[in-house]
Amino acid sequence: MTVTVVVGAQFGDEAKGKITDYLAADARYVVRTGGGPNAGHSIHLAEGSVVLHQLACGVLRHGVTGVSGPGMVIDPFRLEEEIRELEGKHLLKGTILLSERAHVLLPIHQIEDAWEEEVRSAASPKGGVGTTRTGIGPAYADRAGRWGIRMADLARPAILSERLDLLYASKGHLKGLPPKDELQTRLVEVGGRLAPMIRATEPLLWEAIANGENVILEGAQSALLDVDFGTYPYVTSSHPTSAGALMGSGIPPQELDEVLGVTKAYCTRVGAGPFPTEVGGEVGEYLQREGHERGATTGRLRQVGWLDLVLLRYVAKLNGFTSLAVTKVDVLGGFDEVPVAVQYVTPHGDTLTDYPPAIAEDLAGVQPVYQKFPGWPKFNERLKERLRTDGAHALPSTLRRFLAFVAQETQVPVEYVSFGADRDDTLWLGRGAPARSAGADLPAWSG
Ligand code: IMO
Ligand code: MG
Repeated sequence: MTVTVVVGAQFGDEAKGKITDYLAADARYVVRTGGGPNAGHSIHLAEGSVVLHQLACGVLRHGVTGVSGPGMVIDPFRLEEEIRELEGKHLLKGTILLSERAHVLLPIHQIEDAWEEEVRSAASPKGGVGTTRTGIGPAYADRAGRWGIRMADLARPAILSERLDLLYASKGHLKGLPPKDELQTRLVEVGGRLAPMIRATEPLLWEAIANGENVILEGAQSALLDVDFGTYPYVTSSHPTSAGALMGSGIPPQELDEVLGVTKAYCTRVGAGPFPTEVGGEVGEYLQREGHERGATTGRLRQVGWLDLVLLRYVAKLNGFTSLAVTKVDVLGGFDEVPVAVQYVTPHGDTLTDYPPAIAEDLAGVQPVYQKFPGWPKFNERLKERLRTDGAHALPSTLRRFLAFVAQETQVPVEYVSFGADRDDTLWLGRGAPARSAGADLPAWSG
């Protein structure tokens, strides 16, 4: 029995969905613990591909329940579309449950998100956060401000009406809001359709854990987008860390067994904010093309750069990673050399190795120092097939050295390597025994 939390170790889009889907084969519950329609988790199956936004990827497997958990802000209208799309593609195999405590993300929040971005951009050229404009910030702000509406409220028209009155009273600054009565009617209707899925989900998880079943907490966004520990203010409005996953599910800390950090072998970021290891030019365009680095939610081209060990060491400590999954190693195949940022030098000449400056502008001003690794071959179909059949033994030696270095530098064993988008393009390297500090005791293939 294990409770595992899957955490994004960079700026999002690390293939958390793909890794969670891989682990979900042995799970009873998969729980999305935060965020909402800002997430885009792409899953490629033999039967077809899908991007999950608000559903946990457990819903793609028979016998697994995907919970959209209490820490989320759920847009019920988009959720219905997502469910319809899954049904249309015959990919809905598991069960869907929605937490009654999750907040409802309303069309009002989307309008407010766009308004906030305009206000920021008008006030300062660098003011925009570059949000996904799905309403996340305003929905979480209303949650914290106690103006929010929760999934449970949808079944209680009188209470819903009072809450909507309050909410509308707080939105005098916004234009073009839908009339309250119209929104109320739509919410009651959608609430009625979703009612069979809306539950108290924490007791189910407590019971599953007591019965020795596997539970996976599927992180959305990433630790570096955490509202407190990320690159504030260029962050999302939730807590995409291991601690946040507990708050967002109602599972207590002592039940948590594994914290799996997911990182690409390089790095990407979408939206505004500092990105010390960003690369442009031909190399950048190559990575964008080869890695299909376009936002699954917004269609925006992602900025790309090299793996940043300063940030990864920080995030490993912050979340207590017990293991790492390194994804998209195939995208770097064919490079003569692969640079990795091992430290920063600040404009004052100070060296930083494992803790970034708190002020985003200061992080933007650091100079990364790179160590270069010999590259590994291009990932053709033959190499992929050998990896699928022979496992870790087929890993190119230069790639092993790169992975060993990442493990050593973060003090976290690399347990999974992903080398393609398909479900079977993930390699399990074995447990990095004996402990989380075992950089030297790398997976099976090292000794
Ligand atoms: P997944 O789960 C990548 C980024 C946005 C923006 C900032 C704030 O697919 O990894 P928000 O709409 O959340 O207020 O935007 O956070 N962002 C993501 N970037 N993947 C995501 O989710 C993201 N969710 C939010 O681009 O910079
Ligand atoms: Mg994304």
